[in-house]
Amino acid sequence: MKLAFELSGESKSIPRAEVLALFNGALVQELERVLVIDVDAYDQALGDRLAMTHAILEVKDVCKQELRSIYRAAGSIELPRVSVAVRAKRIGHGLKSTEVEATIGKALAERGYEIDLTHPQLQVRALLSQGVCIIGATLALIDRSRFESRRPRVRPYFYPGVLLPRFARAAVNLTRVKAEGLLLDPFCGTGGILLEAGLFGATIVGSDVDSRMVFGTKMNLDYYDVLSDLLVQDARQLGLRDECVDAVATDLPYGRSVSVRAHSLNQLKAAALGEIFRVLKHNARAVLISHSPFEHEVTDAGFAIEGRHTQYVHKSLTREIVIARK
Ligand SMILES: C[S@@+](CC[C@H](N)C(=O)[O-])C[C@H]1O[C@@H](n2cnc3c(N)ncnc32)[C@H](O)[C@@H]1O
Repeated sequence: MKLAFELSGESKSIPRAEVLALFNGALVQELERVLVIDVDAYDQALGDRLAMTHAILEVKDVCKQELRSIYRAAGSIELPRVSVAVRAKRIGHGLKSTEVEATIGKALAERGYEIDLTHPQLQVRALLSQGVCIIGATLALIDRSRFESRRPRVRPYFYPGVLLPRFARAAVNLTRVKAEGLLLDPFCGTGGILLEAGLFGATIVGSDVDSRMVFGTKMNLDYYDVLSDLLVQDARQLGLRDECVDAVATDLPYGRSVSVRAHSLNQLKAAALGEIFRVLKHNARAVLISHSPFEHEVTDAGFAIEGRHTQYVHKSLTREIVIARK
């Protein structure tokens, strides 16, 4: 079956990479903020994990973005005999979404479908991007307010400069860790990354050299009923055996608002990356976040770089995200 993902516009490359990290399938079509993938079956648990996607559709037809073609396509798509509502999402220039909704709704009503705009059993969704219209049955609408409810300021323990939940979840997903896998964050700070991995069931191990941070992480995880193993330890010398973790996602110290417990930031990065490499299983991934380019240090530690992204935060902070493979 073909799945279309309506991607969020908050980053050019991360939403796309997040989908491709979780969904194993052939890439069929790519449009601005839309990705179509051919998969054997839709895995709802994976869909629910996504942070930077708005909606997931089972593709029913793809046509030119013009009303006549859309009317014709809606006249022949196969849908279950349930009540429907039609929603269209325009990305960039193109037809008005309300016109498209009315056109599809008319075609479906003429075929005897019950239109119910308040409590439909199925949402038919049209994605309008780059002159193309993708019509599909909505499989998931990602409730982004879930992430807002965990923003740093509302957690019991707050420290400035931490990652936002959607970004932390995307970082976790980029590691491709499975729900039954074990994820380590050796610079856990207030626990934002651990929280996002623990919430979908991954086993989490977190550590930080600062005992106040570890205590704060414990408070934050307890607040959301997430179980974890937490340690106060220096990331340059992890008390974990070789090749025992399935994934690492971590936000390295920036050396500004947080303390760096080492002679220098460079020395800390090199030693910690060596330790992360040691404890990761073969072929596993580490998603490493830093405030400045650091590919050299990552490859020096033995990793192959599989992907690289940037996230603009404000004029003096652009995060670098490196996907490193052991
Ligand atoms: C950028 S913060 C992580 C923020 C975290 N992602 C969050 O959302 O709260 C980096 C953390 O590294 C910790 N740290 C600094 N030096 C360290 C070291 N040598 N070993 C382990 N942790 C260290 C700091 O205490 C800080 O909590």
